[in-house]
Amino acid sequence: MTNRLTGYQSSEPKVTLNYEDGHNLVLDILTSQIIRVFMDRNCTTNSYAIQGDKHHKTNYTVDNKGDHIEVRTPDLTVKAYDGRHIDFFDGEGNPLVMDYRGRRQALANDLDDEHKSTVLAEGHDINLLGKSDDRHYEIIKSLSPDEQFYGLGDKPGFLDKRGYDYDNWNVDFGQVHNESVKGIYKSIPVMYGLKDSHPYGLFFDNTYKSHFDLGKESENYYYYSAADGNIDYYVLGGHTLKDVVANYTYLTGVTPLPQKWVLGYQQSRWGYSTSDKRVESIADGFAKYHLPIDVIHLDIDYMRGYRDFTWDTTKYQDPKKFVAEMKKRGIRLMPILDAGVKKDEDGYDIYQEGVKKGYFVENPDGTVFVGRVWPGDAVFPDFGRPEVRKWWAKHIKFFADMGACGVWNDMDEPASFDGELPKDLVFSDGDQKSTHAKMHNVFGHLQAQAAYEGMKDATGKRPYVITRAAYAGTQKYSTVWTGDNQSIWSHLQLAIPQLNSLGMSGFAIAGTDIGGFQKDTTPELLTRWLEASLFVPLFRNHAEMGTRYQEPWAFDRQTLDIYRDYLNLRYRFVPYLYDQLRHETESGLPVMRPLVLNYDQDPAVRQLNDEYMVGTNILVAPIVNQGADKRLVYLPAGKWLDFWNNVEYSGKQTIMVNAPIEKLPLFIKKDTILPWGNKVKHISDQPEKVMTFRLFGDCGAYKHYQDNGLDFKYQEGEYNEYYVEVAADGQVTVQLHKHGYQPTYDRIYVETDRGRFEFDYDRKEESYHLAK
Ligand code: GLC
Repeated sequence: MTNRLTGYQSSEPKVTLNYEDGHNLVLDILTSQIIRVFMDRNCTTNSYAIQGDKHHKTNYTVDNKGDHIEVRTPDLTVKAYDGRHIDFFDGEGNPLVMDYRGRRQALANDLDDEHKSTVLAEGHDINLLGKSDDRHYEIIKSLSPDEQFYGLGDKPGFLDKRGYDYDNWNVDFGQVHNESVKGIYKSIPVMYGLKDSHPYGLFFDNTYKSHFDLGKESENYYYYSAADGNIDYYVLGGHTLKDVVANYTYLTGVTPLPQKWVLGYQQSRWGYSTSDKRVESIADGFAKYHLPIDVIHLDIDYMRGYRDFTWDTTKYQDPKKFVAEMKKRGIRLMPILDAGVKKDEDGYDIYQEGVKKGYFVENPDGTVFVGRVWPGDAVFPDFGRPEVRKWWAKHIKFFADMGACGVWNDMDEPASFDGELPKDLVFSDGDQKSTHAKMHNVFGHLQAQAAYEGMKDATGKRPYVITRAAYAGTQKYSTVWTGDNQSIWSHLQLAIPQLNSLGMSGFAIAGTDIGGFQKDTTPELLTRWLEASLFVPLFRNHAEMGTRYQEPWAFDRQTLDIYRDYLNLRYRFVPYLYDQLRHETESGLPVMRPLVLNYDQDPAVRQLNDEYMVGTNILVAPIVNQGADKRLVYLPAGKWLDFWNNVEYSGKQTIMVNAPIEKLPLFIKKDTILPWGNKVKHISDQPEKVMTFRLFGDCGAYKHYQDNGLDFKYQEGEYNEYYVEVAADGQVTVQLHKHGYQPTYDRIYVETDRGRFEFDYDRKEESYHLAK
């Protein structure tokens, strides 16, 4: 029996579709390009991803068309039929998201119980196809022969996710991350599609464990299923893939502007923080070998017995003084903070206070749950409760008081060495009691929120938080890294699609452990990894204790020299990256992005895994294969200049590029002006006096952004904008739009093929004049 669509009510901005079985579907029209589909399944309706009301007043019509009801905004049309089938079309009537009318046909395999133990005996891991306890509901959509999928956060694998299936359940995944892995640390349930070249997005706002099958099971459909929760998803439209991604970040928030030095180079290793002397020796290495650096990370050993919010004074004579001394040398320190709090009755205030106030997650019988992390027995803060987040945020002040530059959140899936926490543990969902099953995927998100708020309150600066676990929307509070990768070439290859996908999922500041975390790197792998990361916003080399040293000077002279050259080059691009992040806060589009985001109508880029773009005008094609000294590079439409020799290429073709070990294939769109940072050892807190712009091509225009790079005053208008233009007739102009940031550049250089133009600042007129 079909479930008949019996009628509807429209009460702006919602259209309720009534069905015979009594389970109504609500279409909530947020904007002309964003429609939420909701069906109540007795779950709370608060969102952890979306803050505030995102409705824009939108004109829409509702018509009864006989066999269906049609809801139409200027950009999206929804047709609702019997059987609770709904189809979405774009403004031109092209199908975007269509309910599949058939039934799923689970993939079969030939593994029976008798053979299962035989296969397992040799240590093979097997996925039981189609078997899952996580099918509270399924949403099945039609798949076109020509349809690609993007997004999904950090899922390891290729850029186009068609043909794969994934779980959304945050896991501390210490094995090799590759395309057969269903999920790692983050759950970002947003996917984008290009259906017959028409872009759309789907965001499933459900924190329970969920699953995507993107055409693995069938060529005819893809589906999303969830273990529990309401049916609650957003169909995102837009004329281009960029519009669709911007709609997603409109909903879940953009990555805020970081402090500028966050874009500098960062060195890390599990093992540095065992003593102040050891950290100092790393800083000395950077000075000795003339290598620029901004941050050294302190892994777990700086703590007293792995207790959160402590600093071991047997290893650090005077931690606060030490941090200040390092800061004087231009190096900031970034301490790690783990989710698990040591169970320690013996004068450890965090644990004792937390227990007294009932701040830790509990077993169903009301006792505090105890897992096992670095300090041994450990308990987990119940971050779903605002009061607990406040408490944690208050303690974050400890780091601010120490002078640390931020907080690096780890093991926040949450992870326990005893395995996954039981799903029925009692967690809070706001003021209500809930379960681990519901709150697991937002644990890291809420811990990041507490860290962000704590740091902001304590310092007044833009907080620098890194987290390993995340949910949709975590980008508002924290940057991310991709967790425990390995020093293997396939992980360098993975870095590009993974970071591109994170970018499309809202995380504009993301990075991988350069050189690889686990296992031993090689000089060649490290070099190519650093080159590939030249524009990766979070630019950090990190390695595991016990592995081969990974500092730039730990290898041969050539490796050190190339490393230095690329660090210097990175700092040249920092003003550009900072400008790009400023754009990102306005456009919602990532800095590092796949070519498909800029050229969604070019089929040649839809599965391109080894190139990326920075904004719209820089194209990077790293070497990601051992031994390779040349590669094919696809250049999209337009004219491109080889960064190294200015040779011009037309786009829409694949070219062969030589790339000996010291060369990263890099292309600039012809007629681009780029800011060109000064050669520095660290990014200074003091305003720059001189700025250079470089023209690539014959003419161009560029808007450059300037603020103090530290705090929130820019939000009250304390910033400047510079408009630099080289006209077709060769005339060079620099215009200042002063919005209220006092310091301006004393001098600006514009470098073109025709020469270097110098502009001096006229204080009285507040403008720049070409020096004679
Ligand atoms: C986890 C982190 C890693 C860190 C280690 C020790 O494995 O992912 O980055 O070095 O813990 O704290």
